[in-house]
Amino acid sequence: MGSPSSKEKTDQPEYSGPILYYNDTVLDHFTNPRNVGELAENETDGYGLVGDPMCGDQMKLWISIRSERIDRIAFKSYGCPGAIATSSMLTDLAKGRTVEEAKRITDDDVVEALGGIPERKKHCSLLGVLALQAAIKDWETKCSLKKESEP
Ligand code: FES
Repeated sequence: MGSPSSKEKTDQPEYSGPILYYNDTVLDHFTNPRNVGELAENETDGYGLVGDPMCGDQMKLWISIRSERIDRIAFKSYGCPGAIATSSMLTDLAKGRTVEEAKRITDDDVVEALGGIPERKKHCSLLGVLALQAAIKDWETKCSLKKESEP
């Protein structure tokens, strides 16, 4: 056994697709995503499920809220590296913030916190933001229903 001969190396088919350059922060969040998983039903105050109709990627996100702050947050992403890295950073940004602060987090905030992502992957950062907004809306709906049912 030895190393591959130069003939074997040149027989490799050349990759001709687009090459995307991710910075170290993005790669770190992609390979070691924060807050991955889900919250148990009895711990979940809000839940969001969103999808990107263009690529078919999906994002599920759970939040628990204590004293109007995002106490716990978890996500599962069926998506590309951009979706996973941006969702991971989004959860880091949202954790500990008040609900009102979390509502104001934008996809640009996420991209900036990551130090940038390739232009063609910027739309991926919207998936996590929309899932967070959906989870907050779910919590707000539950709160108003609860208030309405109170005597
Ligand atoms: Fe679909 Fe990234 S390509 S979210």
